[in-house]
Amino acid sequence: MGFLVVFFNQKTETHGVIDLDANATTRMLPEVVDAMLPWLRDHHANPSGSYRGAKFARKAIEQAREQVADLISAAPEEIVFTGCGTESVNTALHSLDFLTVIGFAVVSAIEHSAVLRQVEGSNREVRFVKVDAAGFIDEGDFAAACEGAAFASVMLANNEIGVIQPIAKLLEIARAKGLPFHTDAIQAVGKIPVSVKDIPVDMLSISAHKFHGPKGIGALYVRSGFDFSPLIVGGGQETGRRSGTENTAAIVAMGKAAELAKQALESGLGAELAAMRDLFQTLVMEGVSGCTLNGDVISKLPNTTHLSFNDCDAAGMLILLDEAGLACSAGSACMTGKRKPSHVQFAMGISEAVAKTSLRFSFSRFNTLQEAAEAAQIVIKSVQKLRTVQGGGVGPVAIYT
Ligand SMILES: Cc1ncc(COP(=O)(O)O)c(C=O)c1O
Repeated sequence: MGFLVVFFNQKTETHGVIDLDANATTRMLPEVVDAMLPWLRDHHANPSGSYRGAKFARKAIEQAREQVADLISAAPEEIVFTGCGTESVNTALHSLDFLTVIGFAVVSAIEHSAVLRQVEGSNREVRFVKVDAAGFIDEGDFAAACEGAAFASVMLANNEIGVIQPIAKLLEIARAKGLPFHTDAIQAVGKIPVSVKDIPVDMLSISAHKFHGPKGIGALYVRSGFDFSPLIVGGGQETGRRSGTENTAAIVAMGKAAELAKQALESGLGAELAAMRDLFQTLVMEGVSGCTLNGDVISKLPNTTHLSFNDCDAAGMLILLDEAGLACSAGSACMTGKRKPSHVQFAMGISEAVAKTSLRFSFSRFNTLQEAAEAAQIVIKSVQKLRTVQGGGVGPVAIYT
């Protein structure tokens, strides 16, 4: 519990609310802000220059590359910085699409929209692999889909339900068919140990704001020697793999966040997150009748829980929870207002009626056990209130980030 003691006094400063929406984004750590500030304030040189300031910036970028590589046990030259996680995913899939001539794209039915929109936007036919009620990819279906395919992309951990896929096994199946493999590890990196030595994929996507780095900076791991075609072309930065003047400040901050994430994982971050999540989950499930836990309970991100509340409109719940000072998610941060039932829950066979009563709660190292307990009481009271005033009936909800 040493970790929690350290962070116990760092109350989440998100407009006075308890922030249980870490899968949407996380707050930057103070050390990350400190590492970033000089690059916004004092050093402006273009890292491609030949003068002193430029070399200073270049050195800082290369140090960040080492820090990010270290987090996933990669080599620094295998890391390409991108403008965000979405760009990392888009780049990987563009590259696979561009370099393979024939065959299907194979993706899971529960991928993030960054994957789904990119593959749907190409001329290639796409096979969407089913998942079971627990959220796991159907391995038989995956093997069948890989027949005659060009490449596969399967997420490591799902952003909505938190289920962790057996990527090593899926990779083995894809490899047996000679297929290149990308994984969107954006929700996993920083929450669980991820090593490209254990899951030797060809490409892997990361986003800094999911592990207390800044928004608008990501990275793509490209296995050494793996064929690559850039999405963004121009000045040839990032050894020609991602053009555009580097965002030195964001890259330096991502490096610091990666270093701190690695240290935190080694000091038991996973257990600390799980302790808060489990306390919250247990209290809510004890305090609310008609509450269902969605997704597998074991192979799951330690910070995430996804619950459905009978006869409780998730949209109504969000309003009550916000009023009571609790932030969580029933829909995508970027899609708010669009209001579609979640494709992830649909793929898991959760009925539309139940999907419309589901909420995701996701913890970060800024939360405390005390907040977890307080949040559970807020949820219990909000469910009671909504059931009283609403008397059943549900409204629509949207897609998750
Ligand atoms: C699984 C997954 N992939 C991709 C993304 C996109 O990352 P970014 O917000 O950095 O563009 C997200 C962010 O919500 C995500 O959860």
